[in-house]
Amino acid sequence: MGPGWRRAYKTKVVEPIRLLERAEREQRLLQAGYNVFRLDSEDIYIDLLTDSGTGAMSQAQWAALMDADEAYAGSRSFRAFHETVQSITGMPHVLPTHQGRAAEHIYFASTLDRGSVVPNNTHFDTTRANVLALGGRPVDLPVSEALDPDSAASFKGDMDVDGLERLIRTHGAARIPAIFLTVTNNTAAGQPVSMANARAVSEVARAHGIPLMLDAARYAENCFFVREREEGYGGLPVTEIARELFGLADGCLMSAKKDGLGNIGGFMALRDGALFQRCRDRLILVEGFSTYGGLAGRDLAALAVGLREALDASYLAERVGQVRWLGTRLKAEGIPVYWPPGGHAVYVDAARLLPHIPVGQLPGQALVCALYLEGGVRAVEVGSVMLGEAAQMELVRLAIPRRVYAQEHLAWVIDALSRVRERSDEVVGMRLAEGEGPLRHFVARFDPVI
Ligand code: F0G
Repeated sequence: MGPGWRRAYKTKVVEPIRLLERAEREQRLLQAGYNVFRLDSEDIYIDLLTDSGTGAMSQAQWAALMDADEAYAGSRSFRAFHETVQSITGMPHVLPTHQGRAAEHIYFASTLDRGSVVPNNTHFDTTRANVLALGGRPVDLPVSEALDPDSAASFKGDMDVDGLERLIRTHGAARIPAIFLTVTNNTAAGQPVSMANARAVSEVARAHGIPLMLDAARYAENCFFVREREEGYGGLPVTEIARELFGLADGCLMSAKKDGLGNIGGFMALRDGALFQRCRDRLILVEGFSTYGGLAGRDLAALAVGLREALDASYLAERVGQVRWLGTRLKAEGIPVYWPPGGHAVYVDAARLLPHIPVGQLPGQALVCALYLEGGVRAVEVGSVMLGEAAQMELVRLAIPRRVYAQEHLAWVIDALSRVRERSDEVVGMRLAEGEGPLRHFVARFDPVI
């Protein structure tokens, strides 16, 4: 029986991978302080740490790379990138950045005051950290279904609109420099935001004179879910759905390492010319001139192609289908997974898989380590380690790089997780030994609780 999706490409270049012996994996993990961010990638068999910058580029992207213009100012590759972003978003002002968080930093440095409050359906970790670093207070407003890993609701990435109105009443619109919608909602298990919710949020924003910004890292996957699940959008070109979504917003920040199908890159797109000028001046200070923003001409050229490829419905059907297949198979094996699977990743509920490990002993981190030991698979904790006090669930994310892994790779992951589940009572908790602050998960060291 087929997997339920159709391949939209075949392989032209291969990258060898190898599986270390179990004893070697044990030693590497110990040396890494039980933090998989500290492992060497050669020591990993299947790398599901992130879908960010880890995708495979197409032949058209590689061809664009060779043809790129590396001029410091006014490069042809910048113009191709600029036109692509303008035509997708409909926004007149575009600033390239070397990745998403640089756009975040420049945007928040140009808009936040001490005491500013920034609502978001759910902040991604770097977004939260940037708001905090620049004196603001990040507030997450997910809908209640987002916290229910079993609810089959279609748009669990939505923002709580009543909560948003209450927040505006409490703090006053003047203290809220922007409202953010993260599409898809990465920290809420990669769940999509409906067009209806985006419209409702944009109406509230407009009524109070507050700009609405999209965190558009995975906007194409989000628009594909809208096409699949929301009434009135079935069969529409994804590009058209994207235009409608961006049309509701005043600007966007994007990590183009996701739905830009690039290995590096990001941007900010704005309607407000005065804000654009402020951000451009800061960009020149920290990233580079406004026609390259920390990127090589070839990166911009590859993104100009990748941004369009990511809107192709057959590519998106395969992408979302592959993630859904993994989630469905894991669930069938009795692994507790957040339901339904998101656009870019399957999230395993570590607290339920390892009920003998209390939250204080970091069940997500324990599961990440067990999965590496069992199958050389690297995943990432999205729970108390990454989110600290803000964590509402103890999840482990299996993020699928774009156009990289085949069904056999994912079957290996399913087998490895099933073996962890069979011997779950042998998995021990973890204790934070070193690391603090909102970005501690990148550098922390842990000790097993034995
Ligand atoms: N916003 C979202 C929703 C993200 O998922 C990320 C990155 C960023 C912003 C920051 O972009 O990495 O280009 O600076 N997410 C990656 C991940 C790192 O693994 O989910 P960046």
